[in-house]
Amino acid sequence: MSQSNFKRTLITTALPYTNGPVHIGHLAGVYVPADIYARYLRLNHREVALIGGSDEHGVPITLKARAEGVTPQDIVDRYHKIIKDSFEELGISFDIYSRTTSKIHEATASEFFTRLYDNGKFIEQTSMQLYDEKADQFLADRYVTGECPHCHNPKAYGDQCEVCGTSLNATDLINPRSAITGNTPVLKETKHWFLPLDRYEQALRHWILDTHTEWRTNVYGQCKSWLDLGLQPRAVTRDLSWGVPVPLKEAAGKVLYVWFDAPIGYISNTKELFPETWEQWWKSPETRIINFIGKDNIVFHCIVFPAMLMAYGDGFQLPDNVPSNEFLNLEGDKISTSRNWAVWLHEYLRDFPGKQDVLRYVLTANAPETKDNDFTWADFQTRNNSELVAILGNFVNRALVLNRKYFDGKVQEASFTEAENNLFKEVAELKERVSQALETFHFREALKLAMDMARAGNKYLQETEPWKVAKTDMTRTATILNAAIQLCGSLAVVFEPFLPFMSARLAETLPMPQLSWDMIGRFDLVLPGTVLGDPGLLFEKIEDDQIQKQLDRLAQAKRENMIKSWQPEPQQPDVDFDTVMKADLRVGTVLKCAKVKKADKLLEFLIDDGMEKRTIVSGIAQHYPDPEALVGKQVVFIANLPERKLKGITSQGMILSAMNADGSLTLIAPSAPATPGAQVK
Ligand code: MF3
Ligand code: ZN
Repeated sequence: MSQSNFKRTLITTALPYTNGPVHIGHLAGVYVPADIYARYLRLNHREVALIGGSDEHGVPITLKARAEGVTPQDIVDRYHKIIKDSFEELGISFDIYSRTTSKIHEATASEFFTRLYDNGKFIEQTSMQLYDEKADQFLADRYVTGECPHCHNPKAYGDQCEVCGTSLNATDLINPRSAITGNTPVLKETKHWFLPLDRYEQALRHWILDTHTEWRTNVYGQCKSWLDLGLQPRAVTRDLSWGVPVPLKEAAGKVLYVWFDAPIGYISNTKELFPETWEQWWKSPETRIINFIGKDNIVFHCIVFPAMLMAYGDGFQLPDNVPSNEFLNLEGDKISTSRNWAVWLHEYLRDFPGKQDVLRYVLTANAPETKDNDFTWADFQTRNNSELVAILGNFVNRALVLNRKYFDGKVQEASFTEAENNLFKEVAELKERVSQALETFHFREALKLAMDMARAGNKYLQETEPWKVAKTDMTRTATILNAAIQLCGSLAVVFEPFLPFMSARLAETLPMPQLSWDMIGRFDLVLPGTVLGDPGLLFEKIEDDQIQKQLDRLAQAKRENMIKSWQPEPQQPDVDFDTVMKADLRVGTVLKCAKVKKADKLLEFLIDDGMEKRTIVSGIAQHYPDPEALVGKQVVFIANLPERKLKGITSQGMILSAMNADGSLTLIAPSAPATPGAQVK
């Protein structure tokens, strides 16, 4: 259906788990695009609600609480606040940001379950689950660790082995242990309620595969493969204490599965926002519902939640689109909360105060819309310095500075010529293309086109050269700068969804108190006689040392992870005694040590070996930034290796080091001074 048939748009954003802060992966995948879309619709005077909130149930939260010795409520209170505050500071324009531990949510989710239960929409099944007799509770998959049946990693989790990536059932683990008590769990029978998704398979097939061919190919494709595999009943309850209690007498000690209650959170939060009119937003065919999510959420939003809504009935509408992004990686590695491999939003805001728009820009320009993408700090710096500063900031700055220089900041009367008409025509065309891209959720394309508008401005100034014209013709100069200032007005509007902080500053300068999408391309936005303010530089260069700080932080996280996950190398197969004894290990004293030129890894040692002195070249330079400091130290080396040439230097042996958990090296040395040349026995 086309946009115009809808009266209002309900935009939901996946509710982030409160077991940690939000990071750039969440932002690029969900919150920045949803915010751009909401702002764009508002600029078009469309009725919009942007709904968000925290997902405060689920096992990872209870595990974290247990690890810290605090309650799950403490954990969710802590992260809900961090997340909510940091979203606000980034300018994510939620109409409500609530939480799934709210009273209204508990009541809504409970009622939802009860209605399905009363209407016979569930099936009941008993199954055998792992049970910790000492803790007197069933163990969620995450609460069980043991040996992976595939790669034999001894620390696999019951739901997944993080070494080989296989997804598991807790009952697959070899030698399972309870994460709570360390006990060996037993199998025990338990009863759960299942939503038979198979009953909705035909309806879902038709709805998605026939009526939503316009969905992104990643979303459509994932849905199709799920549907082609055939849908199975899914448990909607769990044996846990943290969650919304199952509202049945016989279900004491059970809660709703987090993926059952969380999407209902969209409804609860809408109710909280619009206590009187919330039903219009969910049950009217004139409302368009859009769910922004990441790709790991597709099945829940396109299959499970719609099946829940179908089961509930009562006029609930299904989403019209589910724009889902792929993943954003960080410096080539998968973002991970548990491995602290992330750029955390609240830390970014602390480290780069006032630079919200830069992050929003880079995450949109690099958005993983069609494939996984990589965030690198080098790219962040380049996009700031050579796009925001050099293109957008530069154009606005030139227009304002020149107008100040020649006209004291006062906007002049203009008589536009073909050059100006061409400029405005180009801007109007770009406006149509930006709109089209935004309407169809192509945010990076939209941003690129908006940037083209600033590029057009630079080109216009380059061609008209007002700084030269000013020497002979002030009337013409007045027109050129008037046109440039009108374009600044268009830029304030077109960038508002993407860079709201810059836009607000620019709008205040011009001034343009009310922005509206239809202003883009107009040449009467700032009237002659207006005296313009001075916003200062809209963007500033980001220097290398700021980037280096972030890279150092990541390197530190990497070291900490190596230490955490370190395991001793398995012992090598046996070799016979005589072979071992043939190795001639000796003590030597370092006489000289220096970096080998043009080889960043190599150090050249001169060693007093008690005989003639020998040269050894060793690939350990990165571990010893100050080779001089090694002079005088004793080392252990293998004396009877065949000679090797490295970078033209003949190396006569090998120096021994220990390889540590963090990848660093420690030279092996005698514990007290030993005679140079002494054999190691
Ligand atoms: N907390 C989930 C995640 O981070 C998303 C929940 S979306 C909702 O993957 F629809 F369930 F709310
Ligand atoms: Zn494994």
